[in-house]
Amino acid sequence: MTQDELKVMVAKAALDYIPSGSVLGVGSGSTVMKFIEQIGINKVPVSAAVSSSNKTTEALKAIGVNVVDPNETQPYEVYIDGADEVDPNFNMIKGGGACLTREKILTSMAKKFICIVDKSKLVETLGKFPLPVEIIPMAREQVARTLRALGGEPVLRKDCITDNGCEILDVHGLNITDPLALEQKINQIPGVVTVGLFASKGADIVLYATEEGVKVLKRG
Ligand code: A5P
Repeated sequence: MTQDELKVMVAKAALDYIPSGSVLGVGSGSTVMKFIEQIGINKVPVSAAVSSSNKTTEALKAIGVNVVDPNETQPYEVYIDGADEVDPNFNMIKGGGACLTREKILTSMAKKFICIVDKSKLVETLGKFPLPVEIIPMAREQVARTLRALGGEPVLRKDCITDNGCEILDVHGLNITDPLALEQKINQIPGVVTVGLFASKGADIVLYATEEGVKVLKRG
């Protein structure tokens, strides 16, 4: 089975988690694109959605979903998104698609985060996937120095300006044994907009696709 087929499988499974009559939070990335496709194919009713990227907004509108401004909606039930890595404690690295800031905002508004991945994203310890950090361009060098002092090797993502007009440093070489502490530490650096560690609010449910079907991990 290809990785693409696994993504379709988990995208289909996520349809069962769409709450009826409530705003749906929608993440970004290739797995989420499959999820949006499945909403369209199966004509699943979605009363309205909040979106974490311009690309997601376009895809939702293309299948007729009403996309609303997060400022005009209340905290809502369910946010569905992919991840680049997920550890056994439901902490995640996100931001491979450069949408981490809006993803974190929507995560903070959701009662439940449902993470949809294929099995390749499950890891024992976060950090093999370079940690994305969205930064204000004028702070690039100073943030990079601070990240080096924390033991990482930041690399500026080429040809990448985020939906918020910012840049991304991908931090290589981290072995993240305390995701919450590192998330808080990096958040404190002046010039950092968002770090792609989702630990203070991680996933509540992880759906992961395997050749044997979709498995479900639930917190606590
Ligand atoms: C987007 O910025 C990311 O957080 C995605 O959720 C993450 O990169 C997973 O993307 P894929 O589903 O494409 O692997």
